[in-house]
Amino acid sequence: MARTVAIIVGSIRKESINLKLAKALVKLAPNDFDCDFIRIDDLPVYNQDLDQSPPEAVSRTKSQIAAAKALLFVTPEHNRSLPTALKNVLDWVSRPYGKNLWAGKPAGIAGASIGAIGTAVAQAH
Ligand code: FNR
Repeated sequence: MARTVAIIVGSIRKESINLKLAKALVKLAPNDFDCDFIRIDDLPVYNQDLDQSPPEAVSRTKSQIAAAKALLFVTPEHNRSLPTALKNVLDWVSRPYGKNLWAGKPAGIAGASIGAIGTAVAQAH
């Protein structure tokens, strides 16, 4: 059975150093790991009105997270917090109430930044 790890990169820019870090980490994964990069750049801004009938891109993302056995977040820090795109996917996949698809999945967090303290504050958040 495939051990699927969902890779969530907190930066959506093409030349992201975090995307490069994520790709480098994936190369270190054992052969029986199936790493699935989760697209987050086309998700609309979270809106609770849409919890019961989410847009297609949100349903796709939820299916990917539901199928994953584990999670790896690789993220920059924006203004001493999470980048907006990462917070957005966290919110979509945590809803509706009682159907938090992140729950119970083991997760790792890594990050790269230009700042002096790396991504410590974003990772803590
Ligand atoms: C940053 N950067 C940054 N770095 C850091 O260590 N702490 C911070 O709080 C911030 N804040 C911040 C805000 C915004 C809006 C931007 C665009 C950038 C710098 C950041 O580490 C740098 O741009 C990285 O290259 C971002 O990672 P990606 O996009 O290359 O993966």
